[in-house]
Amino acid sequence: MMTATVKLVSRVRRLGCVLAFCFLALFLWGLPGARALDNGLAMTPTMGWLHWERFMCNVNCQEEPDSCVSEKLFLQIAEIMASDGWKDVGYEYLCIDDCWMAPERDSEGRLQADPKRFPGGIRRLANYVHSKGLKLGIYADVGNKTCAGFPGSFGYYDIDAKTFADWGVDLLKFDGCYCDSIKHLADGYKHMSLALNRTGRSIVYSCEWPLYMWPIFKPNYTEIREYCNHWRNFADVYDSWQSIRSILDWTTSNQERIVPVAGPGGWNDPDMLVIGNFGLSRDQQITQMALWAIMAAPLLMSNDLRHICLEAKALLQDKDVIAINQDPLGKQGYRLRKEDNFEVWERPLSNLAWAVAMVNLQEIGGPRSYTISVTSLGQGLACNPDCLITQLLPVKRKLGFYEWTSSLKTQVNPTGTVLLRLERAS
Ligand code: GAL
Repeated sequence: MMTATVKLVSRVRRLGCVLAFCFLALFLWGLPGARALDNGLAMTPTMGWLHWERFMCNVNCQEEPDSCVSEKLFLQIAEIMASDGWKDVGYEYLCIDDCWMAPERDSEGRLQADPKRFPGGIRRLANYVHSKGLKLGIYADVGNKTCAGFPGSFGYYDIDAKTFADWGVDLLKFDGCYCDSIKHLADGYKHMSLALNRTGRSIVYSCEWPLYMWPIFKPNYTEIREYCNHWRNFADVYDSWQSIRSILDWTTSNQERIVPVAGPGGWNDPDMLVIGNFGLSRDQQITQMALWAIMAAPLLMSNDLRHICLEAKALLQDKDVIAINQDPLGKQGYRLRKEDNFEVWERPLSNLAWAVAMVNLQEIGGPRSYTISVTSLGQGLACNPDCLITQLLPVKRKLGFYEWTSSLKTQVNPTGTVLLRLERAS
C-alpha cells in the first residue's frame, strides 16, 4: 500500500514536471527572436546570387575567361539578373565571394581588387550593379587571411569597412578562416559589425561566426544575432544530395537551439542554393527550394544564370515558394516529425497560414504515399475548424477544403518534397 502511494505521488509529480516542461517549451517557442542587429536590414531573408559554389576560386582568366572570378562574370550576371526576371521576383544582391583581391594591400593599407581580373575596380562594378537596380555584395575574412589565402582583415577592420562603404558595397560576407583564437574571432566579428555601422552606409552583414565556434564551444546565438544579419552554422554546401541532406540533418538536430533565434533582421544561413547546376536531380532541387523556404533561409543562388535550364529557372523564380521564404511574420520552420523515412516540416506564416513540407528520404523504389491527419499540423491550429490547402511543389494545384477531422494523403517521389500552403477557410 505504502509503495503504491509513493509510486502514485511520484508519477503525478513526473506528469506535473512533463506538463510544466511542455508549457515552458511552447512559451519559449512562441517568443520572438532575441534583439536583432539594429541596421534595419534583412527584415526578410536576403535574396541574390553568390559566386562561390559554382565558380569557386578560378583565377585562370587566360584559359577560362568565361568562368574565372572577374569583373566580366559579375557584369554579365548583373545584366541577366535585371533582364531575366530574377530581380523582379526578389533576387537583389549580386555577391562576390573569395578570390577577388590582389595579393597585397595598397600603400595605404587598403584592400584592392586584382587589377587584371577587375580592371575597373569594385567602385565601378558597384556603380554598374546599382544602375541595374541591384545591390553588390563583397567578401572578406576576420582572420589573417581569407580561406583561399588572400589578405585578411585582422587589424584592418575599420579601414576595410570604410573602403567597402566608399566603394558602394551593400553586403559583406565575413568569413572566419585563419583566426588564431576564439577571442579574436568573437571580437573581430563584433568589431566589424560596429565598424560597418559607423560608416553610415546600409551594409548587410553576413557572418560565419557560429560555424567556426562550434568545434570549440556552443555559440551564443542571442549575441550573434545582435551583430549579424545572417550567420552560417554548418559546413559549405556542395552540388550533391549528400550535402543537402547533411545540412537538413544538422538543422533538425539543432533546431531547438537555432529556430527560436531567427526572425526579422537575423537569420540562420544553411548556405547557397545549388539549383540549376549538375549534382541534384529535379526532385532534389525541389527539396532544396522547399526546405530553404521553410527554414527562412537567405536565398543566395550559386549557379550560372547565363546557362540555366527553364525548369530550374521556373523553380527558383516560383513566386508562391518565394512568398513562403519571405513571409513577413519571419518565423523559421522546423521538423515536426520523422517516421518511416518521411519527414514533415512546418512553418507558421502571417494571417494564420502555415507552410508544410513532406520529404520522402527513401532512396530506393518509386513514389510513396504519406497520410497525415490535419489536426496534427500547425500546432493543432492550421485546420481548426477547417482550411484550404494548395500544393505548391512539385506542381501547383488546389487540393481544396479540409475539415479538422480530415486526413491528407500525398504522393512523394524519392528524395523529393511536396510543399503545401494551408490557409484558413473561414
Ligand atoms: C569557406 C566559406 C565558403 C567560401 C570559401 C571561400 O570557408 O564557408 O562559403 O566563402 O570559404 O574561400
